[in-house]
Amino acid sequence: MGLERSRRLLVLYGSQTGTAQDAADRVGREAVRRGCPSVDVLSVDEFDARLLPSEDVVIFVVSTTGQGDMPDSMKEFWKFLLQKNISDQWLEHVHYAVFGLGDSAYQKYNFAAKKLDRRLLNIGGKPLVQKGLGDDQHRSGYEGAFDLWLSSLWNALHEKDPMLLPRSIDNLDASTQCLDSPKFEVIFHSINEMVATGTSTLSDLNCAKNLIGKVRSMSLGKSHYKRPQYLLQLITNQQLIKSDADADVRHLEFESSSSDLRYQVGDVLEVLPAQDPDAVEAFIRRANLDPDCYITVRPKVIGKHHDSSADMSTPPVKLRTFVELAMDVASASPRRYFFEVMSFFASAEHEKEKLQYFASPEGRDDLFQYNQKERRTVLEVLEDFPSVQLPFEWLVQLAPPLRTRAFSISSSPLAHPDQVHLTVKALTWTTPFKRKRSGLCSNWLAGVVPRKGVPIPAWIHGGCLAAPPPSEPLILVGPGTGCAPFRGFVEERAAQKAEGAAVAPILFFFGCRNQEKDFLYRDFWVSHAQDGGVLAAGSGGGFFAAFSRDQVHKVYVQHKMKEERKRVWRLLSGGAAVYIAGSSAKMPADVVTALEEIVAEEAGLDSEAAGRWLRRQRAGGIFIEAWS
Ligand code: 2AM
Repeated sequence: MGLERSRRLLVLYGSQTGTAQDAADRVGREAVRRGCPSVDVLSVDEFDARLLPSEDVVIFVVSTTGQGDMPDSMKEFWKFLLQKNISDQWLEHVHYAVFGLGDSAYQKYNFAAKKLDRRLLNIGGKPLVQKGLGDDQHRSGYEGAFDLWLSSLWNALHEKDPMLLPRSIDNLDASTQCLDSPKFEVIFHSINEMVATGTSTLSDLNCAKNLIGKVRSMSLGKSHYKRPQYLLQLITNQQLIKSDADADVRHLEFESSSSDLRYQVGDVLEVLPAQDPDAVEAFIRRANLDPDCYITVRPKVIGKHHDSSADMSTPPVKLRTFVELAMDVASASPRRYFFEVMSFFASAEHEKEKLQYFASPEGRDDLFQYNQKERRTVLEVLEDFPSVQLPFEWLVQLAPPLRTRAFSISSSPLAHPDQVHLTVKALTWTTPFKRKRSGLCSNWLAGVVPRKGVPIPAWIHGGCLAAPPPSEPLILVGPGTGCAPFRGFVEERAAQKAEGAAVAPILFFFGCRNQEKDFLYRDFWVSHAQDGGVLAAGSGGGFFAAFSRDQVHKVYVQHKMKEERKRVWRLLSGGAAVYIAGSSAKMPADVVTALEEIVAEEAGLDSEAAGRWLRRQRAGGIFIEAWS
């Protein structure tokens, strides 16, 4: 083949939120501990796909996003691999393995990993082990499946090439293991050096956008470089349901400071939340640092692939600002590696032993009980082990980066050209040991006072629900906050109609617990269901609500759909697109089953044929967005 073959273990990851990157880093660390002389862990967009055939062993760790999609950082690579002119022996000398991270609540579970695995095989790659699939729905997350997959990978790799992997098991005991070096460098500047430098407030919008972009690319990796698209101001914050209901749902309206909002119905708004200032202070105090000192943070230069670290380093920034923007101090359940690193820095013997146990395979169940079940935060864990003094560069690496949260947009740009609306449920729950927990972003948003405070960094991008053309009849199913995108759909179609466009009917099924308590946007739906409205029964559409707890037995959206089977069938057989959204993982599948039953009854088919009909006939498609 004429190519100089690489004698290294290459780990390529395609990560959307950073989890696949964590997993890939672990592959790299474990390989080093097993004596592997040369390992590189790279984001797949940092690797030139044309050079793939010159690699010896490539391990892929990829997550699936959206409707079975590749992560953004992997799109180019995937397009390259799909080229028709690649021969079926292109990778004949390359051994590979694939691990996928997915969520079985979605129909296209782990599609990215499955598609990649199939394609690598088809172009000649030699699988080292069967692909591994990690499932977010599993009680311990992806880690159980990952542990198993890794141990078979090490066996296979050792057998194939003992020079590349001298040991298949990590036979060093914890006390003699050496610590990897942290991936970041932190430079502390003296106050004098820094007089009036840096952006410690977010007052200058452009400066703020740049700083956030830098800090995020630093903490999440270059492929996540994200300067905020918008800085939004909240202008309305309205409670949508009765205060004695067991939840708090808000209607939120935002404006952009630069009136440049661009979006489509069905898009999502990603928001970077602000953290609780008390938690930030406590975290910095626990690290024994001065919140007002200035720091520069940059990735360590490792090997030839990280040559761009200079442009990735942050500008000098107040430590407090850095922590606020980059490190999620209240994030729950730090990774196992966090406990491992902590064990090196514990000065009290009993803490060291406990941490080593938590980090070991034997301690996994106990760690799960302590960490995941109770959703302990990074700060709480640090406080539970007071003898541990972690250097700040380790905290930067180990505290999860502050993540954006995505919400379905609930407005139409036609109806509100300069605004974007959300419908957000403030999430709270209690752990088995009765600790009160709440979702950072949703609760923070619920508490923001309109027209006050700093602007909110935000991004808009396409979600799972493609915006339908006005001529397409729609069947919408959205219980609870699942109705959010459909408020946008209805507004949009009403606006199109008002402009004189011919619009197809919409049939909308909404569900909630009680008619009197949590009937979100009741007046809105009812007004559009009146004669002449886009939900009017007379036009072939309709609005139907299921109240699950107003009677002894449950009434759900799918029950209402079956009651209205004639209407559903009329639209479905006329080529309607079906959109399903909601927070219950089981609901979409139950709704699809109800659709199949309706088709079977109305078209006189058996259930298998009805399923086939639905898959073939659904002209517009069935679009599902489920979240938990
Ligand atoms: P429940 O809480 O009474 O079970 C919004 O969350 C609505 O969706 C609630 O009325 C909730 O009912 C209902 N829901 C829960 N699981 C569902 C499912 N599998 N299918 C349809 N609706 C469901």
